[in-house]
Amino acid sequence: MDRKPVVIGVAGGSGSGKTSVTKAIYDSFKGHSILMIEQDYYYKDQSHLPMEERLKTNYDHPLAFDNDLLIEHIQKLLRHEAIDKPVYDYAVHTRSSEVVHVEPKDVIILEGILILEDERLRNLMDIKLYVDTDADLRIIRRLLRDIKERGRSMDSVIEQYVNVVRPMHNQFIEPTKRYADVIIPEGGHNHVAIDLMVTKIQTILEQKSFL
Ligand code: CTP
Repeated sequence: MDRKPVVIGVAGGSGSGKTSVTKAIYDSFKGHSILMIEQDYYYKDQSHLPMEERLKTNYDHPLAFDNDLLIEHIQKLLRHEAIDKPVYDYAVHTRSSEVVHVEPKDVIILEGILILEDERLRNLMDIKLYVDTDADLRIIRRLLRDIKERGRSMDSVIEQYVNVVRPMHNQFIEPTKRYADVIIPEGGHNHVAIDLMVTKIQTILEQKSFL
């Protein structure tokens, strides 16, 4: 096994449908050698900070992420070495003590709001995607998800959206669209875009097997 894995970056605003796009690509390769890495799992460890400090963190700023560790892990996977992926707990705003052992695979999908922001990460990618969904749909999805899955109240989601998520989106996330090879409108419902991506990944895999 010596061909270099294919690395795909999937960026887009919070609630844009990155997870659906990633999952649709992943499912198309089911049974093949593919893995997903969520940038969210690489939020900096805050276990040393008290809860009130963790609540003040700006989770939509590039500095919130431990990209050094993420890059180290991708480089290891590219060398066909296994990694111990961190696990993030949104309810307590920090890394959990457990890790997930991940074996190297032929296709690596990296997903996250700011995955295209760091040039070092972009340089590791073969394909860069940006999922482009209107802000009204994104806030509705985020509201429903954060209340159901991340243990938040409606007031706290709205307050965070207006004061942090929206301004950070405009300042840091939206501008990364310019780095995308492909912009996918409407996330996981866009079957044409997903089929095109799957075909492209297959083509790269076939080419790489001859390198
Ligand atoms: N976040 C948070 N609290 C934390 C850590 C992160 O509220 N302790 C939020 C950040 O504000 C950021 C969001 O998590 O905006 C990133 O996740 P998001 O992109 O919304 O979720 P995905 O499921 O990865 O993406 P999508 O909705 O596009 O599928």
